[in-house]
Amino acid sequence: MASDNQTQHLLLVDDEAGFREAIAERLHDSGFAVTQAGTGEEARDRLDQFAFDVIVTDLRLPGIDGRAVLDDALGRYPDIIAIVITGFGTVREAVEITRLGAEGFITKPFQFEELLHEISTATEKRRLKAENAYLRAQLHDRFGIEGIIGRTKVMQELFDLLRTVAATASTVLITGETGTGKELAARAIHDASPRRAQRFVAINCSAIPETLLEAELFGHVRGAFTGAVANRVGRIEQAHRGTLFLDEVGTMSPALQAKLLRVLQAREFERVGDSHTIRADVRVIAATNSDLKKMVEDGAFREDLYYRLNVIPVRLPPLRERRADIPLLGQHFLEQFSRQTPERGRVTLSQDAQQALMAFDWPGNVRQLENVIERTFALSPGRTQLTGIDLPDEIRDTGTLLDPAEVVFPDHGIEMDRLVNDFEHTLIRRALERTGGNKRLAADLLHVKRTTLIEKLKRLERVN
Ligand SMILES: Nc1ncnc2c1ncn2[C@@H]1O[C@H](COP(=O)(O)OP(=O)(O)OP(=O)(O)O)[C@@H](O)[C@H]1O
Ligand SMILES: [Mg+2]
Repeated sequence: MASDNQTQHLLLVDDEAGFREAIAERLHDSGFAVTQAGTGEEARDRLDQFAFDVIVTDLRLPGIDGRAVLDDALGRYPDIIAIVITGFGTVREAVEITRLGAEGFITKPFQFEELLHEISTATEKRRLKAENAYLRAQLHDRFGIEGIIGRTKVMQELFDLLRTVAATASTVLITGETGTGKELAARAIHDASPRRAQRFVAINCSAIPETLLEAELFGHVRGAFTGAVANRVGRIEQAHRGTLFLDEVGTMSPALQAKLLRVLQAREFERVGDSHTIRADVRVIAATNSDLKKMVEDGAFREDLYYRLNVIPVRLPPLRERRADIPLLGQHFLEQFSRQTPERGRVTLSQDAQQALMAFDWPGNVRQLENVIERTFALSPGRTQLTGIDLPDEIRDTGTLLDPAEVVFPDHGIEMDRLVNDFEHTLIRRALERTGGNKRLAADLLHVKRTTLIEKLKRLERVN
């Protein structure tokens, strides 16, 4: 679902430290962001915290062995590419590994290039498979859940639910905090449903004054009220054979709740000022960020309507419950904004920026992240990498990495070398900004030799 050409994040699991570190270094040089684990337990912890693209694991590990690690990885991230390192490479073992769901395997001892080759073949195979699956899905009249980014297990499960729900005509109630993607999910259901060729009609019940909402929903006839100069088709009629999205449904008045209940029960209603009954075939998706159940208990929302709406409940998790998706979402938005300024080329997020974004709690969820990325992107013109220092203060303050005493250690740890690199990069950049690009003056400011600065700049250019 997440198709971007971001750096591939790879988890390397092997208990032989020397061997592991050597491979990790070469993988890093080949452009992978590598995380290492020396035991199965450690590998599990890492998988808990981050959605890796690739896992390379030794089969024989002390404690939790490679099979269990593999099982765990594929259970959590069905899209992960798994490569297994074995000591023997018997046919039986190879068969078993494939059965476990690994894409490839490699026998020790091996040349590093063989491993690289295994990874790239598996990636390509996976890409083709995904492409074929997509085409097949189209042929079978079924669509994926387009445009929703998420690789964490909660999101993968949500996608499955959305696809299942799309095939039915049942009423859906989407709940979730503000900015979690409720409207996106509603559209995705419609787009994946047999009704997708018809309209998706959205109405925000809280944005329209109570007095107008009824006419807006049900339509009205000429002269029904002051200002009703002509007949007007309501949103429900507009959505005939399609989907009606009732956003912020919790804000409806009791009178309208009763009328909506009738629509859900009998699919019929009257236009305002008219006695003629109209029937409409609509699939209703409602959304709310208030606790409807509690509103029912408090008598603010009709219980019968609540049950009519809540036939299939869909809950969108807050962003802080899927932190591993944050770098992916950030990069996705960055790519969206980059498209508007193609001359700037591809812009990425540095490690320390990703860390700071993951450490933040996001009360405004994905929408807030989108806004922060847009702002950061706009306020750092001409640069191809956004670093922690570029982020708005409120984000940096949670996990600012400039002062080591304030480093927030996410459970999956931090990549010290990269962070130090990022820090150095930021200092050099700031110094150059200060001196209008003059390298000698910048070197003076930083108390390093000019040649040292130039050398570091070259290295940074290679790294980024
Ligand atoms: N998983 C996701 N992948 C990509 N974009 C997302 C995702 N979730 C949300 N967005 C984007 O975040 C923004 C907010 O999403 P949306 O409007 O669907 O949220 P909402 O839950 O309806 O918010 P509110 O409760 O404030 O109405 C949109 O621009 C949407 O495209
Ligand atoms: Mg919304």
